[in-house]
Amino acid sequence: MYLGGSKKTKETIFMPSILKTVTVIGSGTMGNGICHVFAHNGFNVNMMDINQAALDKGLATIGKNMDRQVAKGTLSEDAKKEAISRIKTFTDMETAVKDADIVVEAATEDIDLKLKIFQQLDKFCPPHCILATNTSSISITRIGSYTKRPGQVIGMHFFNPVPVMKLVEVISGYATTDEVKNTIFSLSESLGKVPCIVNDYPGFISNRILMPMINEAVLALQEGVAGIAEIDTIMKLGMAHPMGPLQLADFIGLDTCYSIMHVLHMGFGNQKYAPATLLANMVQAGYLGVKSGEGFYKYTPGSKELVVSERFAKK
Ligand SMILES: NC(=O)c1ccc[n+]([C@@H]2O[C@H](COP(=O)([O-])OP(=O)(O)OC[C@H]3O[C@@H](n4cnc5c(N)ncnc54)[C@H](O)[C@@H]3O)[C@@H](O)[C@H]2O)c1
Repeated sequence: MYLGGSKKTKETIFMPSILKTVTVIGSGTMGNGICHVFAHNGFNVNMMDINQAALDKGLATIGKNMDRQVAKGTLSEDAKKEAISRIKTFTDMETAVKDADIVVEAATEDIDLKLKIFQQLDKFCPPHCILATNTSSISITRIGSYTKRPGQVIGMHFFNPVPVMKLVEVISGYATTDEVKNTIFSLSESLGKVPCIVNDYPGFISNRILMPMINEAVLALQEGVAGIAEIDTIMKLGMAHPMGPLQLADFIGLDTCYSIMHVLHMGFGNQKYAPATLLANMVQAGYLGVKSGEGFYKYTPGSKELVVSERFAKK
């Protein structure tokens, strides 16, 4: 395939058709969506998580989301069955990556965890394998430096919900080769996505701009400038955003939002990126948004009604 011991001096663009097997690390909010899209597009998918319950939940979510596509007529029942049959689940990383052409890491947004995962990936993945991360903010260059193949480490940042959202932010680390960047660009297009290439700075483009807005909304709530419904309604109706910043924070996961703000704060060394205390408190207390059942809003399975958390409604 590409790179492996090559003395090539000329840049080669490898077509995504060469990549057949993808391993996705983490089967949470993003991981199962990424598996869904790759399986839908004909890839063999190895879905790996440390937690069997997370794998079961991930597979069930993929099934439900594909059912929705079948109901809409964008996927046939047969294609759904085929796509699901292409997904295998693993709790052991070494077995999950042994035949991978590309890995997309979508584990928890924690720098120490990701550095450890990439050291292991480097050890267990075949030499040709591209190591991509779905990180929202962590330095691709730093992650790459924990491997012996920094040229093959790249950011492939999908958006939530992955089967619906068109954008892939492709983040080129300092050492990432043009060959790998071009491969991921073409691969994203072949998945029906629109890739945008950016350089490796904290939060890249998407979260450098989005997260300070969310954090500012939490600060406004914390200061009592307005309530949750008012803040979200103002941003929805006034700025034509499809959902307000507090609802979006719940959807992303408040732990993920907190981690991204921390990366921006440390990365730029600027106090303007300090995470709001209310956000930190909610994360510490386990109120993480949709995935934990409560954040700024309260979520009841099966209900689409947007109910402000009683904790805020009382105030
Ligand atoms: N939530 C979003 O909207 C969003 C959007 C874009 C990117 N991201 C990024 O995607 C990544 C995953 O976020 P998420 O929202 O899916 O988180 P999540 O909490 O929903 O899922 C994380 C999963 O990683 C698993 N995990 C933890 N350690 C692991 C390990 N060592 N090996 C394998 N699996 C492990 C957990 O068991 C869990 O199932 C993060 O880097 C995040 O910043 C999130």
